[in-house]
Amino acid sequence: MSKDSDVEQAVKEIKVEPAMAQESPAVPAAAPAPASVPATVSTATTVIAVTNGEKPMEVTPAAATSAIPAAAAAATATAEQVQPATTIGGIELAATATGSGKANMDPALINFKVLYVLTQLCGLTMIVLVGTWIGQHFGGLGGTANPKLEFNWHPLFMTIGFIYLYGNSILIYRGFRTTRKKTLKLTHAGIHMAAFILTVIALKTVFDSHNLASPPIPNMYSLHSWLGLSAVIVFSLQYVAGFVAFLAPGLRENYRIAMMPLHIYFGLFGFVLAIASALMGLTEKAIFAITNPAYSTLPPAGVLANVIGVLYVVFGALVVYLATEPSYKRKPIPEDTALLNSSSANE
Ligand code: HEM
Ligand code: HEM
Repeated sequence: MSKDSDVEQAVKEIKVEPAMAQESPAVPAAAPAPASVPATVSTATTVIAVTNGEKPMEVTPAAATSAIPAAAAAATATAEQVQPATTIGGIELAATATGSGKANMDPALINFKVLYVLTQLCGLTMIVLVGTWIGQHFGGLGGTANPKLEFNWHPLFMTIGFIYLYGNSILIYRGFRTTRKKTLKLTHAGIHMAAFILTVIALKTVFDSHNLASPPIPNMYSLHSWLGLSAVIVFSLQYVAGFVAFLAPGLRENYRIAMMPLHIYFGLFGFVLAIASALMGLTEKAIFAITNPAYSTLPPAGVLANVIGVLYVVFGALVVYLATEPSYKRKPIPEDTALLNSSSANE
């Protein structure tokens, strides 16, 4: 979440930058005078105009001079280096113009903040209620000695890992929009890995609860289990593809760019499938296990199950909205490119 402090930090950085730029011989703040051209071009690596969507291109001095006239390259480079200080995004631009952060915040990002907080509240409530549900109505948690109680880890860890962490990892770029892209990528991959580990534990406990029951319960007979396992497989493939495409070095730039829409689509598809599977699992459990009094009489355990289901849907809807609304998309910040020394690792 871009908290106030994050925003203020961004504003501070923005306010300082033009001044710093003026002091720096390599980065003139005003429109480049011809005299400044050699100084700018002589830096080891220069970031020039954003091309191909969001990707800044790096151009070495030699390449710049051969590909385009040096003066034009320097002018473009200078504009690019100075411009992000005032045009990172609506929120930063407004804050810089008046010097007062919150009062002039981009309305789109105020919406984002409110909805993001709502998403977190919804997600945390969902986890607390699942804990309450299994604690109050199904005997709490247990190990392999008691397969019935071991099962209870399944909804709990699926809710924490495969729903809450999965959703939050998707939102990381938009929620922490003033953090450097490289850091966000590592966090995105790290949270997804944590989600995956909890999901694998949740799968182990449910398989145990079937295999260790006496008599054993058949595996993989329900639509819930089919779609749930499919969601885990989509997630795993997506992780490997995301890692190869955006974190590991070596993949050509145009392939990375081509991968991004697929990455976003399958990331969201897997998430929606996870929510759908959780709803089916919840319904199954309610019908199988809320028997005395029966689920059909709307006992407290049934009401709680329904509330949890509604929260899954609201959480899912909020995450998908926040991750797809174009005006909430994170815009590149100067730090994304300022420390560039290898194009593959810092996209
Ligand atoms: C989205 C996350 C979830 C995934 C990926 C998932 C996946 C699975 C899988 C693969 C099985 C089959 C285990 C076997 O056949 O031995 C299963 C069983 C089960 N799950 Fe889930 N589950 C999820 C969430 C939930 C939730 C939230 C509940 C709510 C209580 C739940 C309840 C059940 C029940 C009752 C079974 C046993 C009956 C059956 O095989 O369908 N699941 N789950
Ligand atoms: C199962 C694992 C993953 C899922 C479900 C997933 C899902 C997503 C989704 C839905 C987005 C769109 C976010 C937005 O537009 O704000 C996204 C963006 C992105 N993901 Fe992943 N991702 C996964 C793994 C990875 C991995 C391992 C990497 C490697 C670092 C990665 C790198 C990226 C990058 C660079 C973006 C673009 C962010 C932007 O420029 O706005 N993802 N991911």
